[in-house]
This record gives sequence, C-alpha cells and structure tokens, in this order.
Amino acid sequence: MLKQVQHDEIGEAFMTKARVAVLISGTGTNMAALLYAAKGDACPYEIVLVASNNPEAPGLTLAAAEGVATWAETHKGMTRDAFDALVDEQLRAAGADYVALAGYMRILSEAFVAGWQGRMLNIHPSLLPLYKGLDTHQRAIDAGDSHGGCSVHIVTPTLDDGPVLDQTPVAILPGDTAETLASRVLIAEHQLYPRTLAAFVMRERSPDWLLGRVRELAMAMPEAEETLSHGMPCFGIVKGKKFAWFTEDHHRDGRTALLVKISGVDEQAALIELDPDRYYRPAYFGDGWVGIRLDLGDTDWDEIGEWLRKSWLAVAPRKLAGLMAAADEF
Ligand code: GRF
Repeated sequence: MLKQVQHDEIGEAFMTKARVAVLISGTGTNMAALLYAAKGDACPYEIVLVASNNPEAPGLTLAAAEGVATWAETHKGMTRDAFDALVDEQLRAAGADYVALAGYMRILSEAFVAGWQGRMLNIHPSLLPLYKGLDTHQRAIDAGDSHGGCSVHIVTPTLDDGPVLDQTPVAILPGDTAETLASRVLIAEHQLYPRTLAAFVMRERSPDWLLGRVRELAMAMPEAEETLSHGMPCFGIVKGKKFAWFTEDHHRDGRTALLVKISGVDEQAALIELDPDRYYRPAYFGDGWVGIRLDLGDTDWDEIGEWLRKSWLAVAPRKLAGLMAAADEF
C-alpha cells in the first residue's frame, strides 16, 4: 500500500502516523482507549483496523461506529495456523505497521508471531513477570500482594513473556475481590496502553534509533568503519573513502537523513522529482550525493540497505568491490 507523506499548512513534509491494527475478542475497552487517544492530532499512531476472532465482540460495533474498518471471522473449525494466516492477510491488506493485542483471547501461532516480531504489543492485567495467564487479580489477592497492576509488553512466542515496556501498579484495597480490583486495573490499563504504544512507535522515529539502524546496515559492508566528520557520524572504508553520512538537524534543517553516493546530477534530479519529500540535494555535498530522509515514519529499510550497498560499491577499491560481486553470485 502506498503511503502518502503528509504536509502541514505551509507545505512542510511531516511524519506519517504509524498504522496500528488492534485484535480483540470481547468488550474492547482497551481498543476504545487506543482509538480515542488516536483522535488527538499529536498522537503518532492511527488505528487502521479492528479485527476479531469473535464476530459477536461488542468492540466491533464501537469501532465501526467510529469509522474504523473492522473484520471478524470465527476461528471455530479452523486450525490455528490457517486462522492466523487469514488474520495476517487482513492486517497486511490494511497496511498495518504494528499490531496491538487488546483482550485477544487466542494463543498465536509461531509463524504469526514471527511475522510481527518486534511490532506486536499486548496488555496484560498483572505486574509481569508475576501472574502470566489467567485469574491474575485473584492470584495477586491470594498472595497477599500490596499491589496488582498491568503491563504492556512486546509479544514473543512464549505467552505473556516478552520484554515489558511499561507497567502501572494499582493498590489492592482491604476487601477487594477479583472484580473490584479488575475494574480499577482496567482504568490504569486505559491510561497505560495508549501512552506506551505512542512511545513505542515514536522510539523508531528518534534520531538515536535511526542512527542505530543505519549503523547496523553500514557496518555490515566489508571493511566499513565509522568516524565523526563535521559533527556527523559517517561511514567509510578503512583507509579509504566515505560512502554514507548520517545527518541530524544539520545547519538546523530539521531533517534526519542519510546521504549516499549517486551517479551524478541526473540521478539526483530524477530522485527529487520522483519523491520531493524524501530526496533532496544535500548542501555542500554537490551533485554526487543525495539526501534520503529517514524521519518520515515510512522508511523502507531494505531499500536503505540497497542504497548503502550501491554507495559502498561506488567508492570501494576494485579488489574489494570484486569480492562483493563474487559474494552476490552465490
Ligand atoms: C484486559 O484486562 C486486558 O489486560 C486483558 O484482557 C482484558 C481485555 O479487556 N488482556 P477489554 O476487552 O479491553 O475491555
């Protein structure tokens, strides 16, 4: 799905909102909290789909009434793999970048989890790692804990086990039952989930994270080294030429971008014409380089890897470049 770069009133390109799909099985109050938070202009994500394995889930009616696309089909009579493949198809068709599980009462197949690795979050009603699974509130009360609470974590193949991003403790009151505690924890959930999801999608747009990604790809090139030049991290071949620069607000231009080598002025002009929000002519670098913005929120990292490879090849001595060409043949 083609993503449109958005513009403000004066025509400056700004960050695309992250596209989130929410999976529910029931009431969907957490989904509603995510959806209403997304209505704020400053919210860095939007809800593009609410999907369910239960066509009767009350949350679906609410999402539809709010103008959000919904999809539901019962998992009954299907294998786990087949049903998850169907869900996955819907999420991809909706152009989702992230998945938020919100009371989705299904164990997920390994393939599904792998397909959304590092991009799927879940909310769980306990202070993880305590009380994975069900009956969390009763177990906290029975243990005599001072607090119950909720956690948002990244989903990994093991149930309720991935890295915890944030959690909120909720005091257990004398005389609390699982129900009374659950209803207060739910209030905390509705605060915690939207804010944690927002921070999570923003993290991937921060200059530090973007530099980390570029570094990983650039340093994978043969004989690559990182140095600092004019205050910018840059990547070159040991004792050789530089093939990439990472710029962050250089001369206060407000951009976070990657500069790579290209063939010259024609290629530079063609790229800028093709996508004027993403590509630009970097000041002081001349016609042999192009700037590629990384801060629009829709960076295709395979493409960035390819740019770095081409740039490396353009400056690599013949002997080294030959090695890369030989490796490509296998
Ligand atoms: C919440 O308590 C959530 O932590 C758990 O399932 C419940 C879903 O409630 N995973 P709702 O459907 O969001 O109201």
